[in-house]
Amino acid sequence: MTWAQEMQLMIGKYREKMGKAAPFNFVNFANWCEANEPEFNERLEKRAADLLNGGDQLTQQYDMTKMPDDLVSKYQRQLLDQAQQTYQDTPISEATVRAFLATPRHLFVRHYRERASKEWRDVNASNLTEHLATLYADNPLTLFGDDDNNVPSTISQPSFVLRMLDLLQVRPGHAVLELGAGSAWNAALIGRLVGPSGRVVTLEIIPEVAARAAATIAELDITNVHVVSADGGDGYAERAPYDRIIFTAGTYDLPRPLYDQIRSGGLMLVVIKDAGGGDNLFLLEKVDDHFESRYAMPCGFVQLTGKYKVDTLDPGPVDALPQWSALKEKEIGDSASLVLARDDELISYGNAKATERLLRLIHRWVDLGMPTASSFGVRVFRGDRPLTARDDQWIVKRRESQFVWSALPGQFADDVPQTSLGIGTRNTGGHS
Ligand SMILES: C[S@@+](CC[C@H](N)C(=O)[O-])C[C@H]1O[C@@H](n2cnc3c(N)ncnc32)[C@H](O)[C@@H]1O
Repeated sequence: MTWAQEMQLMIGKYREKMGKAAPFNFVNFANWCEANEPEFNERLEKRAADLLNGGDQLTQQYDMTKMPDDLVSKYQRQLLDQAQQTYQDTPISEATVRAFLATPRHLFVRHYRERASKEWRDVNASNLTEHLATLYADNPLTLFGDDDNNVPSTISQPSFVLRMLDLLQVRPGHAVLELGAGSAWNAALIGRLVGPSGRVVTLEIIPEVAARAAATIAELDITNVHVVSADGGDGYAERAPYDRIIFTAGTYDLPRPLYDQIRSGGLMLVVIKDAGGGDNLFLLEKVDDHFESRYAMPCGFVQLTGKYKVDTLDPGPVDALPQWSALKEKEIGDSASLVLARDDELISYGNAKATERLLRLIHRWVDLGMPTASSFGVRVFRGDRPLTARDDQWIVKRRESQFVWSALPGQFADDVPQTSLGIGTRNTGGHS
């Protein structure tokens, strides 16, 4: 057992004995160790003496851990309150809260910029206090890349990270694969949840980001998280099978290698992107040779790059349509019809048929309760598996996977059913 794990165990024991109400600080903890755990206390004191003598690699490289506990914990508590409010129908679990408090977010960000700001900021021990409010705000932060319309790497929105961890149902001893290491914060949180008997592999495609993530994990002495610089679309067969797989970047297709790298009954959280905008998070369970959805909600994620990147997902400008340059100059007579929806107006050309049809469909969608992807169940199969759809189903084929959609019972009535995972609630989505 590493020193960090031993400390974690002892702090757990201390908290158990003192009850949840007792505020945690190191002085109280050290006093308690002295009175109750003499053997551990001896090593704790020796370790503290080493630290003070500058003999500890962790402290030398990671001065930020010297932050006063109460200041960091104040920010952590504020963020937790916010997360609990955002997901008040499905409160963040005790285990995830514990992992969050034990894995301070500020330790994973050295260089960042806020969305819409061009200014890159460096975090170090001497200026950390001025960054804490930003690092503990409930927002994603950019870690790499200058183009806001195409941000390659971020540390995701904290409340959504915690919600995703609960959805994934990570348990001690699990083997977990993450696609998209970014800062490695999420991987470290998962590392806490799986505990010393579990393991986490996290894959990152940008070599500089992967190197920083690996260095952070090493500096924090986290031994059950392994960062690999690779395209996550291939998965990581060397350490398969996994009990859980989590995507932290959205994908258009479900990569084929993942079908064989997850155990039967295993859970996968994946963000599926659709052309024209719109991302949906799905919790999928591996059943026989395919996956079945157990939960879905809308969200907004950066796109997976590498071999699974698709260039045509974002809405294109009308001027880029091949027919448009000819069409826009043309008088459209009564025999033809065209409607453009732009911002909140409809522009009609020719007769009114296209406009009427579009309005009819919009009204129908509103009457049905404005369903989103979370109103439907989806089963995902390898692309070459022969399939036929029933009348109430439809199949969307992509390169390596095919998606069989069907309406969930009860989703189009007023009384939307609710489950412990929050299925049927109209959650707002989080962002990566
Ligand atoms: C939202 S960020 C990840 C946040 C991260 N989990 C954290 O805790 O900070 C998405 C990450 O996925 C990475 N990524 C994108 N495509 C990838 C791919 N094909 N394989 C592995 N990583 C990928 C990006 O470079 C980016 O760092």
